[in-house]
Amino acid sequence: MKEKTEVIDIFGEQEIEMFQHMSKERKARMLGKVQPFMTLLMQYRCAIREIETKLNVLNEEFSLAHERNPIESIKSRVKEPASIIEKMERKGYELSVENIEDKLHDVAGIRVICSFVEDIYYLADMLTAQDDLVVLQVKDYIKNPKPNGYRSLHLIIQIPIFLSNQKKYMQVEVQFRTIAMDFWASLDHKMKYKKDLKNPEKIAVELKKCADIISAVDIRMQEIRNMIEEGVI
Ligand code: GTP
Ligand code: MG
Repeated sequence: MKEKTEVIDIFGEQEIEMFQHMSKERKARMLGKVQPFMTLLMQYRCAIREIETKLNVLNEEFSLAHERNPIESIKSRVKEPASIIEKMERKGYELSVENIEDKLHDVAGIRVICSFVEDIYYLADMLTAQDDLVVLQVKDYIKNPKPNGYRSLHLIIQIPIFLSNQKKYMQVEVQFRTIAMDFWASLDHKMKYKKDLKNPEKIAVELKKCADIISAVDIRMQEIRNMIEEGVI
């Protein structure tokens, strides 16, 4: 049942219909090509689980010590096959399972929404200090926001998964954001998808202003929390 769903995910309903009229030999040939791709996606799903477990452990440990959760929520996804193909084509890479693994860093993505800015650095430091994973890249768009106002901390990491016959390192993109940063990024994302904007420059200026206001609120919230913890207020 599960496999059927995955085949539909990759081909879509129409192709499945076509598939049903193919000879057994042809079906086998096609599935032979799809199998390595499905295997790769399965491995990415496993890598996501490994990182999620590590984050949940850190969250639980922290909440016992500090009586609050540093993590508000975790969202994760494996990139849709259509998006993988689109990105490979856009970047000019030949489509192969090996190339997908080598060239794309965000097939597996985890978004960690934190309560406060300091929680982001605490979690990222604790995670990257673990000796089984390898940090490939850190992009700190909190200390250095994008010109449009986008803020988040991005890590590209490699995590081993243990399969029946091998230990394999998988790349995962982990994005850490506060609730406020996520609020801005979600709305920014929605507005980018709208075509035929009348005044894109004006919209960009307005969105940048919002990003800066939101960031100021994040900083203030952190200050208030620190004052509460220090017993100042
Ligand atoms: P991609 O090829 O899109 O992955 O970009 P990149 O390799 O230059 O990485 P970057 O760190 O800039 O962005 C990776 C991801 O961060 C994106 O896929 C988005 O999820 C998020 N992101 C980056 N910039 C923006 C932005 O301006 N707005 C929003 N809403 N999300 C962004
Ligand atoms: Mg991306």
